[in-house]
Amino acid sequence: MVESREKVALVTGASSGIGEAIARRLLQRGWRVAMTARREERLVSLVKLLDVAGDRTLTLVGDVTSAADRQRWVQRTYERWGRIDALVNNAGYGQRGPIELVPVEAIRANFETNLFSLVALTQLVIPLMRGRGRGRIINVGSVAGRIARPFSSVYDATKHALNAVSDGLRGELRPFGIDVVVIQPGFITTEFVDAANKVSGEVIRHMGVYSEAWEAMQKSIGTVKRLAGRPDDIADLVERALDARHPRARYSGPKHAKLFLALKWLLPDRLFDRVFRVRRSP
Ligand SMILES: NC(=O)c1ccc[n+]([C@@H]2O[C@H](COP(=O)([O-])OP(=O)(O)OC[C@H]3O[C@@H](n4cnc5c(N)ncnc54)[C@H](OP(=O)(O)O)[C@@H]3O)[C@@H](O)[C@H]2O)c1
Repeated sequence: MVESREKVALVTGASSGIGEAIARRLLQRGWRVAMTARREERLVSLVKLLDVAGDRTLTLVGDVTSAADRQRWVQRTYERWGRIDALVNNAGYGQRGPIELVPVEAIRANFETNLFSLVALTQLVIPLMRGRGRGRIINVGSVAGRIARPFSSVYDATKHALNAVSDGLRGELRPFGIDVVVIQPGFITTEFVDAANKVSGEVIRHMGVYSEAWEAMQKSIGTVKRLAGRPDDIADLVERALDARHPRARYSGPKHAKLFLALKWLLPDRLFDRVFRVRRSP
């Protein structure tokens, strides 16, 4: 068990990118952190680096889509520290490709990781938080939870759905002292694009009539990449969401994320579509 002022977080997808930055930040702030991911070697060496004494972290290897792994993560965190103050649902990946060509199984798989498994893990943690009358659930969504783009709308749909679930949960859990927050990152330099290209490799290699538009899209993404933020920018947002007495429903960043969200809100669809317009192959 931990001293009552020491807080405990369970962070999924902590082996790289945004999850790693969040875990690092929480440890710097004196939290105890249970870190989950599939890549064991990667997670173990990261934990050794972040927690030399080995008494402030739990290394929980596993797949968020496995019910047994989710159960084990929550159980081990609870057994070790007796509570979970914050659940940071961060594990996720992007599926790319035009809707016509992405196999429905791949669409299901993306929802399985980014939404269904996240909800299932949250369902395990809610009773523990409700028992203490407090807790904070931080869902790492995306600007893509508000804006859907050509060739990315499968992933974008998972994040739109996460926004809906988070809005519902926020109202359901407020009477029990549990806050629900969505973090909406814009482009952040991580392994996300490589992972998305890897999982979407088969679709990308067979773009057919979409090839030209896809290539044009890649070029414009190259431009936006120059605006990309760092994982620490998102750790800043999570820190704010956890420190706030009354957290906001959503935190967005870096600056370009706020700009895109404002444009989406301000512009009629026909005008906003031009931001991500693609050319058609002849
Ligand atoms: N980078 C961006 O521009 C951006 C923008 C908006 C939102 N986001 C969101 O931020 C979150 C983190 O992404 P990132 O950018 O940090 O990408 P990343 O570097 O690829 O990290 C993804 C993390 O999720 C874990 N993960 C993926 N699938 C998993 C599974 N089935 N089971 C367990 N862990 C799994 C990965 O660990 P293992 O591979 O070791 O399992 C890794 O730790 C995602 O939800 C993503 O949608 C990213």
